Amino acid sequence: MNWLGAVLTVCVLVSSARCASDAIPWCYDLPSCSDSTWATIATKFCNGTRQSPIDIVSGSAQSDSSLTAFKFDNYDITTSLKSITNTGKTVKVNFNSNIKISGGGLSEDYDSLQFHLHWGNGAAVPGSEHTVNGKRYPMELHIVNSKASFNGDTTLAVADGTGLAALGFLIEEMPGDATGQPASWKKLTTYLTNITNSGESVSLSGAGISLDDLLPGVNRSSYYRYLGSLTTPSCNEAVVWTVFKDKVQVSKDLIDLFSTTVRVSNTSAPLIINNFRRIQPAQSVTQTSSTSKTCYSLGLMALSVLLGKL
Ligand SMILES: *[C@@H]1O[C@H](CO)[C@@H](O)[C@H](O)[C@H]1NC(C)=O
Ligand SMILES: *[C@@H]1O[C@H](CO)[C@@H](O)[C@H](O)[C@H]1NC(C)=O
Ligand SMILES: *[C@@H]1O[C@H](CO)[C@@H](O)[C@H](O)[C@H]1NC(C)=O
Ligand SMILES: *[C@@H]1O[C@H](CO)[C@@H](O)[C@H](O)[C@H]1NC(C)=O
Repeated sequence: MNWLGAVLTVCVLVSSARCASDAIPWCYDLPSCSDSTWATIATKFCNGTRQSPIDIVSGSAQSDSSLTAFKFDNYDITTSLKSITNTGKTVKVNFNSNIKISGGGLSEDYDSLQFHLHWGNGAAVPGSEHTVNGKRYPMELHIVNSKASFNGDTTLAVADGTGLAALGFLIEEMPGDATGQPASWKKLTTYLTNITNSGESVSLSGAGISLDDLLPGVNRSSYYRYLGSLTTPSCNEAVVWTVFKDKVQVSKDLIDLFSTTVRVSNTSAPLIINNFRRIQPAQSVTQTSSTSKTCYSLGLMALSVLLGKL
């Protein structure tokens, strides 16, 4: 997750192709600054011991009854999205104020600040950051939230082990040959042509889409939880991670637009592709307690009734 861009963009007028928005000149695409170098170019904290992303092994995730339902404030309003920006590393959508989450086993309210995306190279080359049982999905959407008590001060948030809460939504290709679906994503992706170059940003005030619109079909009470880090330098170990079990389905044509439209710099620079960090050593993962045991025993009951009849 690209938290820095959320609040501070120290884009010094460097003559480099990659006008760095962060202090450390990291990248995804060059051997000299790609993620395999981060632990050495950003030793504080990218070489730490609770780094993200991770592979989530579903069979090893312990059930935890304290992982209750979330409350999402103003995720249903169509005026919550403020602007969409090409940061040169990702596409980021900043929110207006008063968007919040609570519950979900979090210690207090967190303000929702922005979301951004990670992708591969078209729907065929997946680029989610988290993987589940070794499977990588086409894209991943991260909603970045900061402890409400810090009042938007992300310097304080990244210095606190639970200062940020990230909500990770895995995106998979919609089955069948649907195009332009869902409508919310069709609308969102129309703006990509307005931000093909790094640093470009346009208003989303006329978009008329809500966060709920962008997250159809996801049971937001069913998720994995672990303590990790930012997935971009400086990799601060300040993030309570939530990765939802259900995937958001987006049609292939729309997924493909990300890797074919936005560039790492200006029009002569490469497209942004494969902007995900590789898997880090495992952390202990918990998960919401599910009703699947009940379903299972009901299923068995139905089976025995059936068998009894035979
Ligand atoms: C685009 O970026 C390249 C590499 O940094 C630079 O040499 C070139 O002048 C830029 N072109 C424009 C039109 O800004
Ligand atoms: C990370 O790098 C710093 C600076 O080189 C070093 O002091 C620290 O021990 C390293 N941490 C780990 C977990 O390797
Ligand atoms: C995006 O670009 C299109 C085509 O150039 C233009 O018509 C539209 O007004 C732009 N949208 C915004 C929000 O600037
Ligand atoms: C959502 O997930 C929760 C937790 O696993 C479960 O109890 C609930 O029944 C699910 N809701 C739906 C509509 O599937």
